[in-house]
Amino acid sequence: MDATVGAVILAAGKGTRMQSEAPKVLAGLLGLPMLWYVRRAATALCGDRVLAVVGHRADLVSRAFPDWTANFVTQTEQLGTGHALTEALPAIRSAGWSYVLVVNGDAPLVTAQSLEPFVREALDAKADLAFVTIEVPGGGSYGRVVRQGGTVAIVEAKDYDTSVHGPVTGEVNAGVYLLRLDAVAPLLSGLSNANASGEYYITDLVGLAGKAGLSVLAHCRGADTAYLGINSPAELVAAEELLRREIVAAHLGAGVIIRAADQVRLGPEVVIAPGAELCGPVECYGETSIAAGVVVDSHVVLRDTIVAEGARIQNFSHCDGARIGPDCQVGPFARLRPGAVLMAESRVGNFVEMKKAVLGRGSKASHLTYLGDTTVGEEANIGAGTITCNYDGVHKHPTVIGDHAFIGSNTALVAPVTVGTGALVGAGSVITKNVPEKSLAVARGRQVILPRR
Ligand code: UD1
Ligand code: CA
Repeated sequence: MDATVGAVILAAGKGTRMQSEAPKVLAGLLGLPMLWYVRRAATALCGDRVLAVVGHRADLVSRAFPDWTANFVTQTEQLGTGHALTEALPAIRSAGWSYVLVVNGDAPLVTAQSLEPFVREALDAKADLAFVTIEVPGGGSYGRVVRQGGTVAIVEAKDYDTSVHGPVTGEVNAGVYLLRLDAVAPLLSGLSNANASGEYYITDLVGLAGKAGLSVLAHCRGADTAYLGINSPAELVAAEELLRREIVAAHLGAGVIIRAADQVRLGPEVVIAPGAELCGPVECYGETSIAAGVVVDSHVVLRDTIVAEGARIQNFSHCDGARIGPDCQVGPFARLRPGAVLMAESRVGNFVEMKKAVLGRGSKASHLTYLGDTTVGEEANIGAGTITCNYDGVHKHPTVIGDHAFIGSNTALVAPVTVGTGALVGAGSVITKNVPEKSLAVARGRQVILPRR
């Protein structure tokens, strides 16, 4: 891509039609905000030359993209898309770009593959102003492309008057523009807000450019769904569904076995090796990666979780920020929280919760257990109902359990505490002191037998 093309993403609007106080561009698709997708597409074309115009709840947008805020421009009052671009002009100028690719922040299905031919055509044609059009039957709420007497203009749906503008053709503005800065910047001061919305429309630049004798190019992409604008919850979930199907189909095509594929939701960054098997309903989000030979049963949710070869995640398990080693077994009904690490061939069974805890190679925690801030060695057995009492109300404390240790059922391990290698803890114990290796610790009331009254 030409080194002087930079991108500006318009992301300052509230998105009133979304019925939410949160900025529309943070509304999520498959676990990631809309703006993430638009940024990805723009970055693929323009590298780090991507600005965003933020405004409504800019604090929340900044929090969602902490690595990007240096390239944020604030539009304090959201007076329209044309005003948003005007506000970005000083930053664009100081970046030294000759062309600006402007993309609406509410078009999360946009891809670099779809944008690339547009940018290429506009640059080859040396257009001063180019924009993308798509076909939407009836025009929806999109700006309508009006071609009259050899000129082209965009008329917003609210301002459209068939007696003036003619019958609706279905060719609409996709909300993506490539502007030659020197030619188009002078037009910005000519925008007016005398329209049905009382806003400064970026779309008026098209008509103004024609009147100023600049070369204007409309790049038609037909029924391309990559430019669907999201304005309402219904449009959000419809776009998410398109994306979901596309991602699932790509994994199926690459050789992942996906059963009940209609009920499988995979984030765009999820990596799954060919031959792995998912049985829907399943959800995988974030930086989850699943190796070959893994089987994920139904009703499992994985977020930012790494699953190594041959592991099996059984039904209804939830894993977030976990690392599951080769040939491990998880679930059914297991809960692995951030920092849970299962070494090879270890097993976590039903109603076991782990947080910041390592289960060593071949160790088992098969039933009803909480392991927090804990390190368990190899080949240890954690009995049913074992609880690491890691929190004293103020601080978290560690528990260490050595190789081959055996923790009897219903044991409370009051941290900080260490159970040595090969030690055995009797069932029902409350362990408050370290247990030396190879010893037996019993810490419970003795059973007494008395005559019954
Ligand atoms: C806009 C276009 C319309 C096009 C459609 C494509 C205008 C006037 N109309 O309409 O022709 O068919 O997109 O989806 O541009 N924004 C700001 N600051 C503002 C206002 C909006 O940054 O002051 C941002 C929004 O956050 C959003 C984008 O600009 O990401 C588009 O705004 P929106 O209000 O959704 O425009 P549409 O009415 O959909
Ligand atoms: Ca929109």
